[in-house]
Amino acid sequence: MKIANRMNMLGTETAFEVLARANQLAAEGRSVINLGIGQPDFATPEHIVEAAVKALKDGHHGYTPANGIPELREAVAEDIQVYRGVSVNPDNIVIVPGGKPTMFFACLLFGEAGAEIMYPDPGFPIYESAIRFSGATPVPIDLHEKNGFSFSAEEVLAKISDKTRLIILNSPANPTGGIIQKDEIDKLVAGLADHPEVAIMSDEIYSRMVYDNQPHVSLFGYEEIRDRLIVLDGWSKTYAMTGWRLGYAVWPEALVEHVTRLCVNDHSCVNAPTQWAGIAALKGPQDMVDEMMRAFDERREIILRELNDIPGFSCVRPGGAFYAFPNITGTRHSAQALQEKILSETGVAAIAGTSFGANGEGYLRFSYANSVDNILEAMSRVRNLLSN
Ligand SMILES: Cc1ncc(COP(=O)(O)O)c(C=O)c1O
Repeated sequence: MKIANRMNMLGTETAFEVLARANQLAAEGRSVINLGIGQPDFATPEHIVEAAVKALKDGHHGYTPANGIPELREAVAEDIQVYRGVSVNPDNIVIVPGGKPTMFFACLLFGEAGAEIMYPDPGFPIYESAIRFSGATPVPIDLHEKNGFSFSAEEVLAKISDKTRLIILNSPANPTGGIIQKDEIDKLVAGLADHPEVAIMSDEIYSRMVYDNQPHVSLFGYEEIRDRLIVLDGWSKTYAMTGWRLGYAVWPEALVEHVTRLCVNDHSCVNAPTQWAGIAALKGPQDMVDEMMRAFDERREIILRELNDIPGFSCVRPGGAFYAFPNITGTRHSAQALQEKILSETGVAAIAGTSFGANGEGYLRFSYANSVDNILEAMSRVRNLLSN
């Protein structure tokens, strides 16, 4: 068989490989604690599950419009009004199976040989993978630990060239838990006035997962870039629905038809019962989201304290999501070597920072979407390993 060359350009999300490895060790009888995978350890709330069951019983078995059922797109528009205070047209919303398709489609829409797309490094690995696959050149936006893993607007603006088509932003961020500060976004948006042809994709999938009563700064707040802004969000994290595959993005008028055509070609539509479940999630009680966030906040304090007590580790305070990204340079191991060592010798799964870009060298990502007991046990195993 002769496989297309572009397949060599496609990267991966190492968390899935580490998950497979951890499951294999567990199957061999090892005690494994998985702090590698980025998904809430909570069940989807009952009323959401019930809504999907009801939709099936009510006969929602067929195709839906490719961009999603109108009731769901209207519910999303209302949700955006409530949580971000802006009014969006439901016709600009496209429902997709999860957060990932939006980033893939955005890269296919803008990327080709000769084009450049900017992405955060360290950042969600699928950005760089999708950019390369599209044929475009990935241009990293360096995130700095000293700034709480935010970027410097000046540095971003300085890297824009006449080939730049799209800038990808993500706050709160995976893998760092970092938050981009409002003044930095203000500066970036002001500078983008000189580059009216550059589009922005803001991945706001962790928008409801911000700690310390900080407001989430959405790119929706900047009217002047609305005609070239894509905002990605979804249900996976907020409602503990990673396996349901449901996400959305709000697209500028000029792109809606293109992305809908990508949906028709790719997956036709998201399965109907999941879309009805999505409405129940947005319109139903939100107390489970608050409860989950209280649990994550408690675990954040615990993992932060524990990580900073491990020889050779130092960890800045994550402001959002459910990841801690300690600096491990004091251990004198590379990120990859330490990921391997910790998994094989203690059964604790974490992800090497280099899985999120070259700037991730010297870091490990721990997800604290796990029980307090498991977090404490995992930290104790790693501390013992590195104390000897
Ligand atoms: C920043 C970011 N965006 C998007 C996604 C993808 O979410 P989904 O599972 O809904 O495709 C993730 C998942 O980890 C993520 O961390």
